[in-house]
Amino acid sequence: MYRCGVITVSDKGAAGEREDISGAVIREVLREAGLEVTRYEIIPDDLETIKSRLTAYADDGLDLILTTGGTGFSPRDVTPEATKAVTEREAPGVCEAIRAHSMCITNRAMLSRAVCGIRGYSVILNLPGSPKAVRESLEYVLDALVHGLDILSASASDCAR
Ligand code: MTE
Repeated sequence: MYRCGVITVSDKGAAGEREDISGAVIREVLREAGLEVTRYEIIPDDLETIKSRLTAYADDGLDLILTTGGTGFSPRDVTPEATKAVTEREAPGVCEAIRAHSMCITNRAMLSRAVCGIRGYSVILNLPGSPKAVRESLEYVLDALVHGLDILSASASDCAR
């Protein structure tokens, strides 16, 4: 079973001023798909904090790390920049698929700057901030994403990780 981490990136959430429904939706969708969520936290929209938590999760050996929030146009939205800084290989097709699918629902989907990439043997995927957007995005790509994890982990056991 793959081990997943969920990070909600939200100034208000981290300050306890907003309930984290999006993080709960991600955990629910992952569990329904038979994936184990071993780590979860809410952090502020701070570049260095996001980079350090993503790095810690990946280097602890989590297979899949999902973030929610901080992908839009606000000056505080830096989740994609943090993700690009800590990943070694890009996986642009995942977010291309999410945006293509989401554009059939709302043209505001084009405003998400989310990225997906690989650090070592961990996949990191940004999801938008709203609970609705999270469900629409994650449910659409999860099956293919698990296939990607299968390929990545096969190469991991080849390398006797
Ligand atoms: N994607 C889907 N599937 N559904 C949505 O409602 N909302 C969009 C977009 N992606 C949306 C979506 C909106 S309004 C914005 S501003 C961006 O995600 C960025 O969201 P974020 O800043 O909360 O990460």
